[in-house]
This record gives sequence, structure tokens and C-alpha cells, in this order.
Amino acid sequence: MGRRHVLSLVVAFSVLLAFSGAALAADVIKIGSVGPLTGDIATFGQSVHNAVKMAFDEVNAAGGVLGKQIEFIHEDNKGDAAETTNIVRKLIVRDRVSALVGAVVSANSLAAGPIAQQFRVPMVTPTSTADKVTAAGDYVFSTCFIDSFQGEIMGRFAYTDLGYRRVATLVNMASDYSIGLADVFTETFKNLGGEIVESESYSAGDQDFRAQLTKIKAADPEAIYLPAYYTDVALIARQARQLGIDAVFIGPDGFDSPKLVEIGGEAVYGSYFTNHYSTDDQSPKVQKFVQEYKSRFGQVPDALAALGYDAAMVVVDAIRRAGSDDRTAIRDALAATKDIEVVTGVLSMDANRNPIKSAVVLKVTADGQEYVATVNP
Ligand code: PHE
Repeated sequence: MGRRHVLSLVVAFSVLLAFSGAALAADVIKIGSVGPLTGDIATFGQSVHNAVKMAFDEVNAAGGVLGKQIEFIHEDNKGDAAETTNIVRKLIVRDRVSALVGAVVSANSLAAGPIAQQFRVPMVTPTSTADKVTAAGDYVFSTCFIDSFQGEIMGRFAYTDLGYRRVATLVNMASDYSIGLADVFTETFKNLGGEIVESESYSAGDQDFRAQLTKIKAADPEAIYLPAYYTDVALIARQARQLGIDAVFIGPDGFDSPKLVEIGGEAVYGSYFTNHYSTDDQSPKVQKFVQEYKSRFGQVPDALAALGYDAAMVVVDAIRRAGSDDRTAIRDALAATKDIEVVTGVLSMDANRNPIKSAVVLKVTADGQEYVATVNP
């Protein structure tokens, strides 16, 4: 064969490849996701990642959506905001995802939201509760309740149900999540007649909390409101017990990790926290999810898993109703989400792209969590 023929064959072959590549690309709908799979809050991202994968596998096994398979592209951001920014850009520009499920923690979603908005890619955070997350714009949605809701619930629960009158707070000043929660808790608890006997703060990465805890001890509170994530909570609780503090720890959804009891041990037993669902809920939808997740991952699904699964299904539902994988069409369908039954409740989007949902209060025990109460909005 002459050189020319070989060349034209190569060209023809490349053209063929390019076309089949395009055809293949059009046959899938790409959905991107970002969250921590490593680091201090790794269990948060692992749960979301597992559950989103489980949801998409289920959808794909049943024929996909709009006759197309979902291609799920996930990257580990280690919980870091700057990494989140880079990953989200890549998912949008390089991978050309139709939608994003994420980020997981509020600080990361606060970084991701403005980029999703700028590129007009619909983003649905399953788990970020900071009030400001969805304020990034009309492309940014959430499928969980917000912090002004869970902070108020714990303020009321502490005063009315637990009967506390003297509470201390310990806040991570590097975290919008922590600051926002402490503000709402404090306002609610004080308005009811309670007293904040000491408010202390720390910064991200701190390991030694004894100075703050010593001041808290001197104020002799009945409970300490600690709006933080499980690694900090476990460490702080252990140091508190070493200093002879026996106050009860109360907090937000950030307590929700199998690692809390593993790291914190007895120091965290008896804590109360607000959360998004309870595995004790006997509704068939919850029990089916719990069974399937357990059999696939060998673990009880925490709230992050339930919320991840729900957010993935909400996105699939929006694509189906949009009848297209066009980003703007999906956004419009997301905004119109109404009365969808999900694991964590019945979900409708409000005008600020947040859902209206109930919360639960759980108690930390030696074997994990115990259901205490459900609070409706
Ligand atoms: N709400 C937390 C945040 O915004 C994340 C979280 C959700 C943690 C659910 C535990 C359970 O950062």
C-alpha cells in the first residue's frame, strides 16, 4: 500500500472514531460531584458518594433517564474550598456535566455555588445547610433544611424538652456553618429565657481546646452547644471530660458520623443533635433504602447517605420532567420540584431553592444513635 493510501486510511479511521465518540458522548448524561473522600470530614463525603452512586446505578439498571445512561464523575476535594473551586471548573468546562450534585459541607458549597451560577450549570447540594449557600443564584439548589431551622430547633429543644437554663457555646470562627448556627441557637435560647453563660471560640485546625474549656467549666453550664463536625466534637468532648466537665454536648448535623463514637468514646455519650432523618423511621421508603444501602456497603446509612441519595433522585426527576439534558431546562425543572417523595421526607422547592422539611433530634449512645423526636417546620 502506498503512503498516500495509508494516510487516507488513517484520516478516514480518525473521522470514524471522532463520530462514534460524539455518538457515544450523546448517549450519556454526565453528572458531576465533589466532596471529601479523605481528611477530617471524610465520612461525610464517603456517605454522599456511596449513595449518589447507588441512586445512579439504580436508575441506569432501570434503563437510564430519557433513554440515556448517567455517567457519574466524582472528585475528592479533601474538604478544601480551593480544591472545590478547581474541581467544579473542570467538571463544567472539561467534562461538560449537565448538572452537579454537591458540594457536601457548607464552606465547599459556598465556593462551588458562584461558579455553577457563572457557568449556568444547575447545582444541587444534598447536605450543605448554611443559609447563604443557595443565595449564590438561581442555578443553586439544596435538598436539605437550612441552619436557621436546625439552630432554632436545638434552642427550643434545649430549653423546653431538656429544661436547660444555663448553656455555653463553643464556635469555630473559621466556619460560616458554625457561626450561623451559634447565632440562631443563642437568639432562640435567650428569647425563651435561657442564659448563655459563656461563649468561646476557636479556629479551624486547632487541637487544644483546654483554655476555652477551662473558662466554660468556671461558668458551670448544664450543656455546651457545639456547632462543629465530628472530629472536632470528639476531640473537644474528650478534653472536656479530662477537665472534669460533665455538661451535656448538644449540636447540629455535623455530629453525624460513625467516627464520632469511635473517636470520642464515652465522652460523647448522651449528646443530643439535630439531624435529617432517623433509621428508626419505619416508613417503607426509609426501610428499603436502609436495607439496600446496608447490603451494598455493609454500613448503616447516615443522614448524608440518605440526603445524597435523595439529591441524586431529585436531579434525575428534574431531567425527566425537563425532557432534555439541557442545563437551563434542568434548572427550570428543579425550580418547579413539588411534592417528591424521597427518603428524608416529601420535598418541594421554596422560592429560595431550599426545601421545606422536618428535622429529627437524636441522642448519641454507645451503639450509635437513638431517635428522640421529630420537629416539623
Ligand atoms: N450540614 C453540614 C454542612 O453544611 C454537612 C452535614 C450534613 C453534616 C448532614 C452531617 C450531616 O456543612
